[in-house]
Amino acid sequence: MQLFDESVSSLSHNTTSSLVQPVMYFFTSALLLGSVALQSVMGRPSLDQRSNVMKRAVDDFIDFETPIALEQLLCNIGATGCHASGVSSGIVIASPDKQDPDYFYTWTRDSALVFKAIVERFTNEYDAGLQKHIQEYIVSQAKLQGVSNPSGSLSDGQGLGEAKYHVDMSAFTGGWGRPQRDGPALRAIALTGYAKWLVNNGYSSTASTIVWPIIRNDLNYVAQYWNRTGFDLWEEVNGSSFFTIASQYRALIEGTAIAKTLGKASDSYSAIAPHVLCFLQSFWLPSSKYIDANINTNDGRTGKDANTVLAAIHNFDPSLGCDDATFQPCSQKSLANLKQVVDSFRFYNINSGISAGTAIAIGRYSEDSYYNGNPWYLNTLAVAEQLYDAIYVWKKAGSITVSDTSLSFFKDLSSSVSAGTYSSSSSTYTTLLNAASTYADGFVNIISKYAATNGSMAEQFSKNNGTPLSADDLTWSYAAFLTAAARRAGVVPPSWASGSSSSVPGTCQATSIAGSYSSATATSFPPSQTPISGTVTIPVPTGTKTKTSSSSTATGCAIAPTVSVTFESLVTTSFGDTVKIVGNIAALGNWNTNNAVSLSASEYTSSHPLWKVTIPLAAGQTIEYKYINIKSGGTLTWEKDPNRSYTVPKTCSTTATKADSWQS
Ligand SMILES: *[C@@H]1O[C@H](CO)[C@@H](O)[C@H](O)[C@H]1NC(C)=O
Ligand SMILES: *[C@@H]1O[C@H](CO)[C@@H](O)[C@H](O)[C@H]1NC(C)=O
Ligand SMILES: *[C@@H]1O[C@H](CO)[C@@H](O)[C@H](O)[C@H]1NC(C)=O
Ligand SMILES: *[C@@H]1O[C@H](CO)[C@@H](O)[C@H](O)[C@H]1NC(C)=O
Repeated sequence: MQLFDESVSSLSHNTTSSLVQPVMYFFTSALLLGSVALQSVMGRPSLDQRSNVMKRAVDDFIDFETPIALEQLLCNIGATGCHASGVSSGIVIASPDKQDPDYFYTWTRDSALVFKAIVERFTNEYDAGLQKHIQEYIVSQAKLQGVSNPSGSLSDGQGLGEAKYHVDMSAFTGGWGRPQRDGPALRAIALTGYAKWLVNNGYSSTASTIVWPIIRNDLNYVAQYWNRTGFDLWEEVNGSSFFTIASQYRALIEGTAIAKTLGKASDSYSAIAPHVLCFLQSFWLPSSKYIDANINTNDGRTGKDANTVLAAIHNFDPSLGCDDATFQPCSQKSLANLKQVVDSFRFYNINSGISAGTAIAIGRYSEDSYYNGNPWYLNTLAVAEQLYDAIYVWKKAGSITVSDTSLSFFKDLSSSVSAGTYSSSSSTYTTLLNAASTYADGFVNIISKYAATNGSMAEQFSKNNGTPLSADDLTWSYAAFLTAAARRAGVVPPSWASGSSSSVPGTCQATSIAGSYSSATATSFPPSQTPISGTVTIPVPTGTKTKTSSSSTATGCAIAPTVSVTFESLVTTSFGDTVKIVGNIAALGNWNTNNAVSLSASEYTSSHPLWKVTIPLAAGQTIEYKYINIKSGGTLTWEKDPNRSYTVPKTCSTTATKADSWQS
C-alpha cells in the first residue's frame, strides 16, 4: 500500500499551517535540486544556480497567487463581490476592513487603478465576466461624477476631485485630505482603455455615447485644475505630486487621441498637455539624481517616495523606449531614482543585512509614520514591475544604455560596468539583463515570503517581522500583483502616447483652460459586444510565451465553451517512468491517483524533458492539480506542495497551454 500511503502523506495535512509558503519550498528546492546540492558541498551555489532557483520559486508563486489575486480583487467589487455585501454595482471597495482601519469606502484613485488593470487584462484576453464588471464600473462612475461633496459639485467640475465616497455612492462628509487631483486623470485613463477596445472592435458609437461623456468631464477637470495644489496619492501632503502630474499628462495625451478618433473636441487637452509635461520636469533634482515626489509644499521629507515608481509603471508605454521626459521605466532618470528610492528602505529590520542590488521590502517613504511606517505589498511589486518594464524595452531595443545619471543603478547589477551603450551581442548586455531579471524576481520573492500563506495580501507588512498589517485584502495590492506578473511574462499595456512627441517646451507656463461639465446620462450598454473576428492574443500569464490564435466567424467570435488545454511539465525522469496529472475534477481523476491521466514523453529530450497531454476542459473553471511520477515498479512520487491552480481561459480560442515544471 505504498502507493496509497504516499498519496496520503502529500494530501493529508489540510491545515493552513501546512499550506507550504512558497518561500519555504524556495529553500527546499535549493536543497533538493541535484546540481545545486552537489555544488553546495563545495560552498555557496553559483550566482547562476541561485538565479535559477529564484526564477523557479517565483514561477511557482505566480502560478499559486494569480488565481487568488484575481478572485480576491473581484471579491471587492459590488454588487456581487464576495466581500462587497451592500456595495453598489460597479463600485470598488479599497478593502473589506471596516475597522482599524476602516477602508470600506470607494476611492476614485484606487478604483481607477484597479479597473486600469482589469481593462488591460480584458483587452489582452476577452472575458465576458470582466466586461460586465467594466460596464458596471463605467455606469457607477457616470453617477458618482454628479454626486455633490465637500470638494464641490459637477457644475464647475470641482466635485470630481473628491477622494472617496460611501459604498452606496453617497458623499463622504467627514474631514479628509481634499481635493486629490489624480482621481479624474486615472479614471479617464481607465475608461479610455475600454473606449479604445470598443473602437477597435467596431463599437465606436458605444464609446461615443456612453464612455466619452464621462471621460470628457474628467479631462476638462485636468485641463482646468492641473496647476493647483491638492493632496498626494497617500492623502497627506497638500502640494504638487509627481504621480498626479504624470497621470494628468498621460490622461491629456491619451484623451486627445481618443477624442480625435471619436470626432470630439480635443483642442484644450492638446494645448495644456505640453505645459503639464514641462512642469513634470521640475520634480527632478539633477544634482541629487532622484525625483522629489512632492513640490510646492514644505513637507520636511527627502522626497524619495514610491510615488515616483508608481508614476513610472503607470505611464509605461513601450513605444516610448527609455524616454526621459515621460520618465519611462527604463529612462536614465527613473532608473537613478529607483535605486535611491529602494535604498531609502534598507533601514527596515526585515531588510537588514541585505546588500545593495538585492531586493528588499519597499514602503511609501522613509519618514512614514502611518502604522509606524512599514513596507507595502503594492510598492514592493511596483519596483519589480518597473524592472520588468525596463527589461522588456531593453530586449526590444536590443541594447542597454548606461549614462552617468543611471550609473549607480547599473553598478548594483554589475560593479565593473561603466557608461556606454551595450548591444545584445555584448557580454555586458547579457550580464546586466540577467542581473536585472534576478533583481526584479527578488522583489516578487519578497511578496511570496510575506503574503499570507493562503495568498491574501493586506496593505502593509511589518517592517520588524513581516506579518501582514493594516487593511486586509487591499484591492490595489491584488491589481499590483496581476500587472507585475503580466510584465514578467512579457505582457505589456497598449501604447498611450501613440506617436505623440514628448518634446518639452522651452519655458513652462501656468496656464489652464476652463471647461464645461455635464452629467453622463446614457448608461445602458448594448448586449453582446464581443470581439470582432480576427486575431485574439492570449497571454499565458505564467510563462514567457504569448500565444496567438484565430477565430473564424465574420461578425465577431464566439466564446469557446470548452478549451483543449495542453498541460506541459518539464520533469527529468528515468526510463520506464510515467508522469501523470491528477486533480480536483473528474477529468483529472478527482485526486484519485488510480484515475490520473498519463502524459506523453514523445517530445522528451535530455535538454528539454517535456511531458505533455491535452485535456478538454470547461472554459472559466478554476482547477487544482499536481503531477505525479510512477516508476515501472509502481512506486508513486508526488511533486511537492502547494497544489497547482489554473483558471481555464474563457476566450474565443479553443486551445490553451499551461507550462509547468516539476515542483521538487
Ligand atoms: C491539495 O489538495 C488536496 C485535495 O483537496 C488537499 O487535501 C491538500 O491539503 C491540498 N494540499 C495543499 C498543500 O493545500
Ligand atoms: C503651475 O505651473 C507653473 C509652471 O510650470 C509652476 O511653476 C507652478 O509651480 C505650478 N503650480 C502648481 C500649484 O501646480
Ligand atoms: C492646500 O494648499 C493651498 C495653497 O497651495 C491652500 O490654499 C489650501 O487651503 C490648502 N488646503 C488645505 C486643505 O490645507
Ligand atoms: C486567508 O485567511 C484569512 C484569515 O482566516 C481570511 O480572512 C482570508 O479571507 C483568507 N484569504 C483567502 C484568499 O482565502
